[in-house]
Amino acid sequence: MAPEPLVRLQKVSKVFPGGIVGLDGVDLDIAPGEFLTLLGPSGCGKTTSLRVIAGFESPTSGNVLLESRDITGLRPFDRPVNTVFQDYALFPHMDVAANVGFGLSLRKLTSAEQAKRVREALDMVGLADKLRARVSELSGGQRQRVALARAIVCEPRVLLLDEPLSALDAHLREQMQVELKRLQSRLGTTFVMVTHDQTEALSISDRIVVMNKGRIEQIAPPATLYDRPATRFVASFIGTMNLLQSRFVGRDGERLRFAAGELPLEAISDSGETPAAGDARTIGVRPEDLLADGEAGEGTAPARVSGVVFHGRTLRLHAELGEGTAIIIDAPRRADGSQFSVGDVAHVSLRRGANCPMLAS
Ligand SMILES: Nc1ncnc2c1ncn2[C@@H]1O[C@H](COP(=O)(O)OP(=O)(O)OP(=O)(O)O)[C@@H](O)[C@H]1O
Ligand SMILES: [Mg+2]
Repeated sequence: MAPEPLVRLQKVSKVFPGGIVGLDGVDLDIAPGEFLTLLGPSGCGKTTSLRVIAGFESPTSGNVLLESRDITGLRPFDRPVNTVFQDYALFPHMDVAANVGFGLSLRKLTSAEQAKRVREALDMVGLADKLRARVSELSGGQRQRVALARAIVCEPRVLLLDEPLSALDAHLREQMQVELKRLQSRLGTTFVMVTHDQTEALSISDRIVVMNKGRIEQIAPPATLYDRPATRFVASFIGTMNLLQSRFVGRDGERLRFAAGELPLEAISDSGETPAAGDARTIGVRPEDLLADGEAGEGTAPARVSGVVFHGRTLRLHAELGEGTAIIIDAPRRADGSQFSVGDVAHVSLRRGANCPMLAS
């Protein structure tokens, strides 16, 4: 049985003045100690979800529960929740220690206890030597760590992070992702992070919540989301996915056989459903699950190459199957240097054992 959720959103809707829908009937259970990420396009309701959990926004309808206790009416300060805001909201002319200790100064602690906890929090984020530095003298990555230290010093049950790494350059961002994950495991605190960067979400999270237009599309661990997207939206939002209009041909045990024009495809039915012969479905095919050959063969379909993009270990081929269906194939670069060029015909087939999802047409 799943452990009791730490936080539960129950049918939470938020309608802003003017009728703008921020959240539309969101049900979400957050497990104790997990790293949960809210992912989705701009305006889908990620920040609104965090603000509802923090208590900065009250839902129009629905409830927020903490360990089964209804906290919908509780003020932000009375919740065991802390937030790291996108712009960090630090005091630039105060030193690091004063910034980190700010939240503690509102609690009943002796100054010696406060100083000890500030030092411990800065130690956690690797900034013990910056205690007396002014925030205005720090780099972007260091400021980000000060904001984290300020949030963890109060020992919240839940830490909310709104796009915490978006101000950092790509290299520092990747380094901070690893540090953030490590910090979370060490503290055992529940982290709820917002991002619109799918690579970041996939690399850091225990589970990802994909949101679209104020609703949840799917909640799953990264690998499940990648391999078994539940909807077309998730399939097209996570990584690159060919969405091929296909007709059902027949069943081989677990495998459902389809044809996208001349291209034979196989899919697995998660629901156990078998379509009727000739039924239309959309099959999601990853570019790495397609093979491109110079010669026609069993199970291949010709596609005219319209673009070749260098991706390091692989070449990404943009091609067109018959009927003008665009398709993307990731082909390994060949050792002998030979490769496809624009205008060539590639003979495309599905890699054996590829695990394609079947989506509603
Ligand atoms: N205070 C507000 N007043 C009116 N509308 C709002 C308010 N806050 C958010 N909204 C609207 O609610 C919807 C969800 O906004 P939200 O800020 O949660 O999106 P988001 O997923 O965080 O997007 P982004 O990635 O751009 O930060 C949007 O349509 C937004 O315009
Ligand atoms: Mg936002």
